[in-house]
Amino acid sequence: MIHPRLHKIAYGGDYNPEQWPREVWDDDMRLFRLAGIDIATIGVFSWSLLQPSEDTYDFDWLDDVVERLHATGIALCLATATAAHPAWMAHRHPDVLRVDFDGRRRAYGQRHNSCPSSPTYRRYAKELAGRLAERYGAHPALAVWHVNNEYGGRCYCGACAASFRTWLQRRYGDLDTVNEAWNTRFWSHTFYAWDEIVPPNLLSEHLDERRTTFQGISLDYARFNSDNLLACYLLERDAIREHSSDVPITTNMMGSYEPLDYFAWAPHLDVISWDSYPALDTPVSTTAFRHDLMRGLKDGQPFMLMEQTPSQQNWQPYNSLKRPGVMRLWSLQAVARGADTVMFFQLRRSRGACEKFHGAVIEHAGHEHTRVFRECAELGAELEALGDTVLGARVEARVAIVFDWDTWWALRYSSGPSVDLDYLGEVLAWHRALFDRNLPVDVVGVDADLARYDLVFAPLLYMVKPGFAAKLEAYVAGGGRFVTTYFSGIVDERDLVTLGGYPGELRALLGIWVEETDALLPGSGNRIVMHDSSDGFATEYACDLLCDIVHAESAEIVAVYGDDFYAGTPVVTKHRYGNGEAWYVGSRTDAAFRTDLVTALCADAGIAAPLTVPSGVEVTRRERDGRRVLFVLNHNDAPCDVDLGPSVFRDAVRDRQLTGAVVLPPKEVLILVERSTTQLR
Ligand code: GLA
Ligand code: ZN
Repeated sequence: MIHPRLHKIAYGGDYNPEQWPREVWDDDMRLFRLAGIDIATIGVFSWSLLQPSEDTYDFDWLDDVVERLHATGIALCLATATAAHPAWMAHRHPDVLRVDFDGRRRAYGQRHNSCPSSPTYRRYAKELAGRLAERYGAHPALAVWHVNNEYGGRCYCGACAASFRTWLQRRYGDLDTVNEAWNTRFWSHTFYAWDEIVPPNLLSEHLDERRTTFQGISLDYARFNSDNLLACYLLERDAIREHSSDVPITTNMMGSYEPLDYFAWAPHLDVISWDSYPALDTPVSTTAFRHDLMRGLKDGQPFMLMEQTPSQQNWQPYNSLKRPGVMRLWSLQAVARGADTVMFFQLRRSRGACEKFHGAVIEHAGHEHTRVFRECAELGAELEALGDTVLGARVEARVAIVFDWDTWWALRYSSGPSVDLDYLGEVLAWHRALFDRNLPVDVVGVDADLARYDLVFAPLLYMVKPGFAAKLEAYVAGGGRFVTTYFSGIVDERDLVTLGGYPGELRALLGIWVEETDALLPGSGNRIVMHDSSDGFATEYACDLLCDIVHAESAEIVAVYGDDFYAGTPVVTKHRYGNGEAWYVGSRTDAAFRTDLVTALCADAGIAAPLTVPSGVEVTRRERDGRRVLFVLNHNDAPCDVDLGPSVFRDAVRDRQLTGAVVLPPKEVLILVERSTTQLR
């Protein structure tokens, strides 16, 4: 449970009454009650009102908001307001302004605009968080602290350069070690003094955001930046903790957001929260991956869906409305994959500036007689009926996919073998193969305990961090099944190539060595020709992007290339290692191959979907204390026949029992409690 005040799936979202006259506030409370809203995130962008000048703070208006919400029975998710500094601060203390990738000092404007190394920013952010905690930290309505907002971006100013050097000193100790890590004898880059090191941007090592001439420094700057923003979070967290000891603290994340290593952040958050903004055409599998990743950050602990739009966004090129039923469907998809809150940005639509066309529960019409409000109120009633049924329940998975930010950054900066190398895309593709078959999967970091999984995928494991190869060896030797792909085992954590033949540290485990890697032109491909097409495999599949030229040492050859000068050489291998097996897939394969391999390996491990359903229907299960709750979500535009089998289920929302064949209307969701195993409430 996130907080005892939240005894059901908390429902609400960002609320910005400071943008409205007080008459409107009363009507807000009436509408919140109508919609079943019981949590409000307040204060997110209110620094300039809370601290109107350098020496004055004003909490009176916030007191009023807090008391009104409390009187309405609404819990508080209280933000620290530090994600956009006041104009006076930028004017008096220009050190709070960021320097951008092009090397320009920004003028005052926008948000998420503070330099994370700025002494002024740090001092005042900490001060504000502390004052808020002192004032509201023990308030009976308070349920969650929301630090800052969507930390992100980068700064390249002098203060950041100085903190980067300190960060390097801590990581490497001395300059010789830095020179070695970055391979600085290349292009005469040897550093003899710390001050010679400058941030990597367009003025120095970079040709554009992606292309760098020195991978080592760019990779370290990405790490430093993530750590430096985390330090800002910690500063506020600690200031809050001094006054508010038992309220969980979070900051809202952004799913697969590249600039921040969320696995490094997660231990410092009491609960993970994140903002989900799929476009109308974002595959539901991609959203599912992001939920799985967010759930994986804290070892499967339920997370908060902190923001989503009830209808449309404003910041995409084309801001389609969520079709009728889709807001509910996607909200419950989050719950199905581990969310214990359903929250929106925002509760009332702004009147001016860039978010006035962003969806909200209360639209510009200002009343409840809108499609969006009706759908929100219906979902509110449903979550009320659901009560605490799934609160704290976990998604149990025996399959894991490894995801690693350092690998993401390193591959992003890689010069060669192909500009189309796409770490996230490759991970998503393997995840999708599992998602499409409703095979429960955890997305985990390299520090995870692998022993509890029967099957582990680590696609594009380009970088092998210290100890990880040994961990994989122990896992497979103990009976685990492991799959990795092309261009894996290439470098160590410094992005220095592991010499002696690819895949470097993974060579013994995989029983192969890779001599060369061919990069294919866009639109061209090769073929994967299977030795044996039993076990549900086809005789052939397509592959493209990169083709590793593989020598099987002790591995068994499962498939060979069909074309080119390396036709007939291995592309898929399987290596018995101890009691388990390690697979190598030496090229980017088509979806059919991934599906067939995933299916064969899961069948072999005895892993099955909670229910067999038609395509486009998502099924998950959450469990707690022996209670199993099944979610069945029809993402299709057409009705679907689903067979629930012989078990009898209690509908967790509507008063009925279900068993056997049911018809699911388009976008319908069922939340079903398995009767045999449940302690009925
Ligand atoms: C982000 C922010 C919100 C709002 C929404 C709009 O998630 O956290 O303040 O700007 O985007 O989609
Ligand atoms: Zn800076």
